[in-house]
Amino acid sequence: MPPNLLNEAQELGPALQAWRRRLHAHPELSGQEAETARFVAAELKKLGLSPVERLNGTHGLLADIGADRPGAVVALRADMDALPIHEETGLEYASRSPGVMHACGHDAHVAMLLGAAQLLKRHERELKRPVRLLFQPHEEKYPGGAPDMIAGGGLRNVERIFGIHICSTLPVGQLGARAGAFMAAVNTFSIRVIGRGGHAAMPDECIDPVVAAAHIIAALQTIVSRSLALTDAAVVSVTQLAGGSADNVIPNEVTLGGTIRTFDPRVRELTGRRVQEIAQGVAHSLGASAEVKIHPGYPVLVNDAEMTRRAFDAARALGFGDERLIEMRPIGGGEDFAYYLEKTPGAFVFLGAKNDAKQCRYPHHHPRFDIDEDALAMGAALHARFALDA
Ligand code: NI
Repeated sequence: MPPNLLNEAQELGPALQAWRRRLHAHPELSGQEAETARFVAAELKKLGLSPVERLNGTHGLLADIGADRPGAVVALRADMDALPIHEETGLEYASRSPGVMHACGHDAHVAMLLGAAQLLKRHERELKRPVRLLFQPHEEKYPGGAPDMIAGGGLRNVERIFGIHICSTLPVGQLGARAGAFMAAVNTFSIRVIGRGGHAAMPDECIDPVVAAAHIIAALQTIVSRSLALTDAAVVSVTQLAGGSADNVIPNEVTLGGTIRTFDPRVRELTGRRVQEIAQGVAHSLGASAEVKIHPGYPVLVNDAEMTRRAFDAARALGFGDERLIEMRPIGGGEDFAYYLEKTPGAFVFLGAKNDAKQCRYPHHHPRFDIDEDALAMGAALHARFALDA
């Protein structure tokens, strides 16, 4: 029988909780994770590890365990950054930085990976492969921190990678994932609709960009309904609309902004192209013009089927019954873990942390977001089990 890592992780409970609460009280925005990185490095050094710091000039760091083992490396990743949100939980360990909050659970991710480091150090002799811990900055904001981790050697000799995200929609004790395309590719767009302004009482003397913008917004709805096949999936949302300054003035221009989510590179390309064609074509037909910019975001996150199965197997080895292992539907949110999975097979999974009884029921990125800390030991044990079974 493999050692019961979940029991061992639960014995680490007070340390896991202390790490998470310390990080929670001191959140740092994307690209500013200096104190978080210092804290992580100090904890790793206490374990006798020699972390490599400031990967590619960022706050990212990595640490290898069992580096003398033969064979390819298995990597475990945690992201470290917080969000520009003012915390309203009222917790005693709430953010001490006004306007900055760990509202996505990345504090928990760091604590879980530090816990896994403890477990793996303790079981170092049982490791069949070297393990690399990746503590990554800058996940919340494009262009993400993963490309810097990769450029800094984070995936050198890595053959498989595993990542966990805490989940506010799954009850604590459940694990969710999906093989194949799991999280969406993100593109954003901005459209400048240019007309000719003037007195609102004399529209015949003007080219009205407000009316043109309205037609563009309506016509963009045909991308999903008319340009995509039954089996394709996409979201095209116009989320910003700005223009005009007075009720008796037709403005010169109106700006639109929005987001595109897709799961397939072909659909991603097609959808962006149709936004451009429709905006320009509709504007032109009304005498206006449109400048369209498509801004690429994170690519689609694709889980390897074999690695996803191994992630569920790791959970089973910790005592998760099949009723606690959830095959999730594809998610419209983006994640820069996608970049690692473009380079190496791996799995990204969601670990439930919702618990109504503990007031942990608000969604990610909400000012009252909180997690059931019982998930911390499960996450630490899952990381360690995945690595030991590799
Ligand atoms: Ni997140």
